[in-house]
Amino acid sequence: MTIGIIGAMEEEIKNILEDMNVIKTTNALGLDFYLGSLSNSSNSIVLVRSGIGKVNAALCAQVLIDLFAVDAVINVGVAGAIDKNIKIGDIVISKDAIQHDFDTSALGDEPGYISRMDTSVFVADERLVDIAKEVVEEIGFPVYEGRIASGDQFVSDPSVKDRIARLFNPMCCEMEGAAIAHACYLNKVPFVIIRAISDNAEEGSDVNYERFFRESAVTAGRIIKNMIAKI
Ligand code: ADE
Repeated sequence: MTIGIIGAMEEEIKNILEDMNVIKTTNALGLDFYLGSLSNSSNSIVLVRSGIGKVNAALCAQVLIDLFAVDAVINVGVAGAIDKNIKIGDIVISKDAIQHDFDTSALGDEPGYISRMDTSVFVADERLVDIAKEVVEEIGFPVYEGRIASGDQFVSDPSVKDRIARLFNPMCCEMEGAAIAHACYLNKVPFVIIRAISDNAEEGSDVNYERFFRESAVTAGRIIKNMIAKI
């Protein structure tokens, strides 16, 4: 199998890249796509840093699918907690993903509804979710499987957080997952999103983010590496 792994930032892919045996690097859209493998698995991997935000993420996912015909996509990174039970350092596995900033409610649509598409909720692949759960349990973390809400916005305002919580009831928010999920849905490629919590998406989240995101990214990377061996 060939598995695509997308992280938005250097710090989110660094830890995986360090352990990879890279056989070829392809540049497209100014992004480096690293093709290779990990020593724990015969699966091929294509690892790429997409850049931040939904458009960068969707474009990157499309190139990954077009150039490498990946059999599955894993999105790895950090996120802000929305659900009250979720703490900094916890891991969230996507059950599904939505775009919290998609809004044609002025036209009578539900917030988050993507006009004229047959779905706005992108459901993660069950098998990938199960593998992620197994790995998270094995490394001794609590398993949180739920909705991930994405938008082109770093959430640090409690009223924005409350709106997202009220309308979409996600476990966490970030800036790429649902865009990658959207691209995977249109291409019929299975996906899962794995996010480590770096902040609480409210006042002070910028400070917590700066303090914790590197550490959280390392945890998320570790999970991905262990997942690859089981896929
Ligand atoms: N990624 C990590 N923390 C985030 C936040 N608070 N908002 C959006 N994306 C994030």
